[in-house]
Amino acid sequence: MEHKFGEIFDNMRKLKNILVSGGAGFIGCNFINFLLEQNIDFTGRIINLDLLTYAGNISSLEEIEKQFGGGRYIFERGDICDRTFVESILKKYNIDTVVHFAAESHVDRSILGPEAFIKTNVMGTFTLLDAVRNVWKTPEGGFRQDVLFHHISTDEVYGSLGETGYFTETTPYDPRSPYSASKAASDHLVMAYAHTYGLPLTLSNCSNNYGPYQFPEKLIPLMILNILEGKPLPVYGDGKNIRDWVYVEDHNKAVWTIMKNGLTGEKYNIGGENEWENIKLLQVLIDLVSEKAKLNPVKVREKITYVKDRPGHDRRYAIDCSKIKRDLGWKQDVSFEEGLNKTVNWYMTNDAWVKNILSGEYLKWIEKNYGQR
Ligand code: NAD
Ligand code: DAU
Repeated sequence: MEHKFGEIFDNMRKLKNILVSGGAGFIGCNFINFLLEQNIDFTGRIINLDLLTYAGNISSLEEIEKQFGGGRYIFERGDICDRTFVESILKKYNIDTVVHFAAESHVDRSILGPEAFIKTNVMGTFTLLDAVRNVWKTPEGGFRQDVLFHHISTDEVYGSLGETGYFTETTPYDPRSPYSASKAASDHLVMAYAHTYGLPLTLSNCSNNYGPYQFPEKLIPLMILNILEGKPLPVYGDGKNIRDWVYVEDHNKAVWTIMKNGLTGEKYNIGGENEWENIKLLQVLIDLVSEKAKLNPVKVREKITYVKDRPGHDRRYAIDCSKIKRDLGWKQDVSFEEGLNKTVNWYMTNDAWVKNILSGEYLKWIEKNYGQR
């Protein structure tokens, strides 16, 4: 039997052997933690396929490895661009579900060196898609009935908003950075595989995530650590660019909801409905971190440094996520106050993780491209 575009497969989706690509990264490791530690309706097994680039940190999954390693959790180091390797993993573990987080994810890096973004985000997504198309096919010419590929994407594919309006699922794509262009290309490939081959796929576009285990090149962890270390707080441009922040666990719950109940061939927006100008968010962080670390916020504010703007810096992102709320019953559970509190506490008590991820390759790269920061 062929999958029909837009058909719901809930009662057929077993989601038993899940391949998580990029599971050692920020959102991926939180997803694995969420599924194995907290999710009572998941009883299957997770195969984490990750190349461990500068952004991947296997120590984020130390506890998971101790508790579930070799049983419900297996780590496989490898590249999603390696077709032979990917197919061997799909077969070895009889994978029925792929949730595809692996990517080069940082906009600034995509401006300095776009090639890795095209390789991983475009070719890597293509390789995964084409591998499942081959491995999941049936002799009748369709696909196994128990399979699903969920692609994780970003609101940045929609471009930049003015002072009003929201991105909906039908907003035309208008990517502006090499990162967002590479993610847009991957989204188009995903939708093309759904339309052309009838591959059972779902896609989500999410706004800015924050929470534990985020690599400290991204705004929130970078600022938390710089405040704690008395370093300059670099604000790009006039600091009035706006982002819509969602707690990583709320994002992952939305992803799981789509994987369980989403319509194949459909895309869903996910967001925090929580817009902040960068400079206002930084003020909140300064107050919060100063209070917890017993610093003088007036002195910390003196460290705010307006620096050269990011080239092509998108002005405002804001997600309309009414579709997933209405159709699938998802909602955000974590307020910004609670989420920031948890995040700051986490960075203040996980020094070893921070030191580990900031060592080696990352430092060499950052020194080469930015000098000492
Ligand atoms: P991240 O940079 O923290 O992690 C990416 C992971 O992918 C790392 O573990 C890395 O080792 C792995 N990886 C990179 N290249 C690989 C390759 N060729 N083969 C296998 N593994 C590879 O990224 P993140 O912030 O966790 O983002 C995860 C996904 O979510 C990405 O697709 C990103 O575009 C999307 N997204 C992120 C946000 C956000 O705010 N961080 C928001 C919306 C969507
Ligand atoms: O919107 C979703 C996207 O959010 C994801 O797809 C990306 O993977 C993720 O990196 C994030 O992209 P941003 O570019 O919005 O995140 P970043 O943390 O790099 O920057 C957030 C805002 O803060 C942005 O307007 C640039 C600004 N900024 C960032 C840094 C690192 C600064 O002003 N100073 C900084 O030092």
